[in-house]
Amino acid sequence: MVICITGASSGIGEAAALRLAREEGATLVLVARREERLRAVAERCGADATWIAVDLTDDDAPERVRSHLVERHDGRLDILVNNAGSSWPARFAEGGYENVRRTMTLNFDAPVRLTEALLPLLRADDGGAVVNVGSTAGRVARARTGAYSASKFALAGWTDALWSEERRHGVHVGLVQPGFVVTEGFPQRELTESVRTRWAVSRPEVVAEAIAACALDGVAERYSPRGYWLAAAARILAPRLVRRVLSGPGSGRMTPATNPDA
Ligand SMILES: NC(=O)c1ccc[n+]([C@@H]2O[C@H](COP(=O)([O-])OP(=O)(O)OC[C@H]3O[C@@H](n4cnc5c(N)ncnc54)[C@H](OP(=O)(O)O)[C@@H]3O)[C@@H](O)[C@H]2O)c1
Repeated sequence: MVICITGASSGIGEAAALRLAREEGATLVLVARREERLRAVAERCGADATWIAVDLTDDDAPERVRSHLVERHDGRLDILVNNAGSSWPARFAEGGYENVRRTMTLNFDAPVRLTEALLPLLRADDGGAVVNVGSTAGRVARARTGAYSASKFALAGWTDALWSEERRHGVHVGLVQPGFVVTEGFPQRELTESVRTRWAVSRPEVVAEAIAACALDGVAERYSPRGYWLAAAARILAPRLVRRVLSGPGSGRMTPATNPDA
């Protein structure tokens, strides 16, 4: 069973690699930019593992990953985990379109382009699975994470459609929606510093179990930790309340007197 994981050099991707390496017959293909980190994760996996150091936003990245699979793994691919991603928090007035473009390129375009290149390999043999790592921010948006939410909303919509389309071809498509998780790229310091909010923060290993459930057990969508589905449900059922809670005190139409940024 050949499993390709992007963003495997740290955080959730690294935890997913270590978790899926425990499956019998697993061969891991680890993808990210930092080669030394990939090598170290491959050694810790203890299973067959190869790696390819590539910037997934490069034009030739999908073809380089495909060639690696053809040359090193006879073109076999059973599971693709699209996990690599990042966030550059900024209000739209500060980050502008350039921040949206940069975020979409990594968090949305890159997994779409990689999936396009690898889908023929996944469809071959007995069919495979794609697991996209989205975010609870892909169903609920907050200030300063508009670009990130846009990329993850897009990923969620595309994943839902792909799930329907690929069933007939034997390819299962799953979506993992993490909540707040402490990793290198998302240190969550604001939340972990206070005892009032620390409980809301999870670990990469918990998300890795959700990835395994989507990849191996046919789960279509899983929030991780699971309770985060309530945030997505509340956004649909009580949008005014959610807006008010996420915007903080004084939300509604801002006047100079109530605007914290004024
Ligand atoms: N942590 C959270 O709270 C949280 C919540 C919801 C969703 N998520 C999602 O979970 C996924 C993993 O994030 P994480 O928390 O584990 O963060 P992380 O520790 O920063 O990991 C991000 C991974 O993506 C790789 N990556 C970044 N840019 C890349 C590029 N241009 N080309 C190739 N690889 C690239 C990084 O490797 P290199 O730097 O070596 O390239 C790294 O392996 C992301 O999609 C993120 O949006 C995280």
